[in-house]
Amino acid sequence: MRNANVPRALVLGATGRTGAAVVRTLEATAGQAVPVRASRSKATVEQWNEEGKEAVRIDLDDPDTFPGALEGIDRVFLMTGYTSAMNHQTKTLVDAAEDAGVGFLVHLGVFSDGRSTDPHFAWHELVERYIAGSTLAWANVHPHVFMENLLGINRLRDGQMVWPMGDKRVGWIANDDIAAVVAKVLAEGPKTHAGKDYYLSADLLDGAEVAEVLSAALGREIPALVLTPDDLQRMIDAGLNTAPANMDAAYAASTLIWARQTYEGRMDYSAVTTSTVQDLLGREPIHLDSWATTHRQELLDQLS
Ligand SMILES: NC(=O)c1ccc[n+]([C@@H]2O[C@H](COP(=O)([O-])OP(=O)(O)OC[C@H]3O[C@@H](n4cnc5c(N)ncnc54)[C@H](OP(=O)(O)O)[C@@H]3O)[C@@H](O)[C@H]2O)c1
Repeated sequence: MRNANVPRALVLGATGRTGAAVVRTLEATAGQAVPVRASRSKATVEQWNEEGKEAVRIDLDDPDTFPGALEGIDRVFLMTGYTSAMNHQTKTLVDAAEDAGVGFLVHLGVFSDGRSTDPHFAWHELVERYIAGSTLAWANVHPHVFMENLLGINRLRDGQMVWPMGDKRVGWIANDDIAAVVAKVLAEGPKTHAGKDYYLSADLLDGAEVAEVLSAALGREIPALVLTPDDLQRMIDAGLNTAPANMDAAYAASTLIWARQTYEGRMDYSAVTTSTVQDLLGREPIHLDSWATTHRQELLDQLS
């Protein structure tokens, strides 16, 4: 039986890294907001339902699936994948959320400054303006580079930490910290968080510094291969570096532009850490050394 006093929060991307972590965190803080998992996969949704979990099917490319998924939903965690489709997906979902009477939307963005020119940062800024122009109460969460990229797009290659941005540092944030912030914002709702932008960056490290942290956590020497964006472009042209399967060509091209802008110093505004986790959660953020210890085996598996 539903408790009408506890808001129901639709969690997009519940099969992905961030969404799954948001669901876990909301479940661990029962009574604050009930997570309603969302996926495109009918089989996944059916399995969740069989396990007694609230879940709905939604395909962000098919707005006909939106009204059913948004029925009885009070709050939405809106995240999109690594494709340029995020633009029409966010626009149409926001329209449907307005029509469905959703009370609060929390959007997962990037660490942007409102003047971004690289495409995927610009897309996030574009959709945030659209959200702000809607009738919805909203908050944006702006994470810097996910530490989890070290298990994916930035995984060790031939035992090395490949860094195509010279000695430039970027901010790093753990997925569990992003999820903890999103879950708190969703649970506390618009009275506390409407109109807020939360920037997340726990550590500021370049590739050589990341390699040092990983070496200490793994007890193995992880060398850094420090390159430039031009070197990376040559590797891509030679077929030595390919984009992950879940990234479309436009988004992949944009990540290279981001690397180039970072290398050229055009992203220097973002070379900062933030106190958001401490301020909102009253604890230190997860730093890369502790993250690497938690994920030690997954990192070691990349060496075998
Ligand atoms: N990686 C970084 O360093 C970084 C930094 C800052 C911001 N971000 C942002 O983080 C977001 C990606 O987060 P993530 O890494 O957690 O994603 P992820 O693990 O790749 O998961 C993507 C999720 O999106 C869902 N999805 C994809 N297409 C969908 C569609 N058409 N309809 C409904 N659901 C769909 C998938 O669910 P189903 O397959 O189950 O439908 C999946 O659960 C992007 O917006 C990116 O810009 C990333």
